[in-house]
Amino acid sequence: MRVPLIAGNWKMFKTKAEAKAFAEEFKELYKDTDIQAAICAPFTDLELLVEEFKGTGIMVGAQNVHFADEGAYTGEISVSMLEEIGVDLCVIGHSERRQYFAETDETCNLKLKKLFEGSIRPILCVGESLEQRDAGQAEAIVKGQIEADLEGIAADDIRKLIVAYEPIWAIGTGRTATPEQAEEMCAVIRECITALYDESVADDVIIQYGGSVKPANATEIMNQPEIDGALVGGASLKAADFIEIVNF
Ligand code: 13P
Repeated sequence: MRVPLIAGNWKMFKTKAEAKAFAEEFKELYKDTDIQAAICAPFTDLELLVEEFKGTGIMVGAQNVHFADEGAYTGEISVSMLEEIGVDLCVIGHSERRQYFAETDETCNLKLKKLFEGSIRPILCVGESLEQRDAGQAEAIVKGQIEADLEGIAADDIRKLIVAYEPIWAIGTGRTATPEQAEEMCAVIRECITALYDESVADDVIIQYGGSVKPANATEIMNQPEIDGALVGGASLKAADFIEIVNF
């Protein structure tokens, strides 16, 4: 059974002081909620958030990790460093990392494999650009990403996978995919995982939609049968907005 997961992706927002203020407000608002929620935050906020959210059920995620155990990789963070802090989740392959930081399907694949050696669950982001959608390539692009990113990963690990379908044209633009467009592509992702593994494995994978999710559109997106959650950027920065999405 899939449990819906609403995750915030703070991107490069919030100092520790700002993260603390958010956490204090959000955990109060979250008290009567039974929907699973998470915040994926900058590295510098993670330890504080784990401490703040202890006992609340709110999960904490990183936004990136390196695929090596350790080594001369200036500026990078390893899986064991995240595990030591008590992080639950890690975003992999966000389009901003693919676009600005040379993340490729190959590095996503290595990072997923490294995470699956431990206990941190990945949120793998996939999605097409506007040019690709207009050229009728959305499905082929997303399928290609899923196939390459999951190559060589065992079925039992895939059951713990979270996928976020994030069309690049809907990120930070205010232009949300229609619930039908989001549903259609989340179904494509589940069919692709069924073809690579089997239906029982694909049934366990949480598939989120991300891209301009707001309190005003969360319900219609979450009502789609193939959509099990949301990855929320801008609207996760204010506790009052984020709780409305969590309580869709
Ligand atoms: P916005 O919700 O700001 O469009 O960002 C979406 C996103 O990239 C989440 O990872």
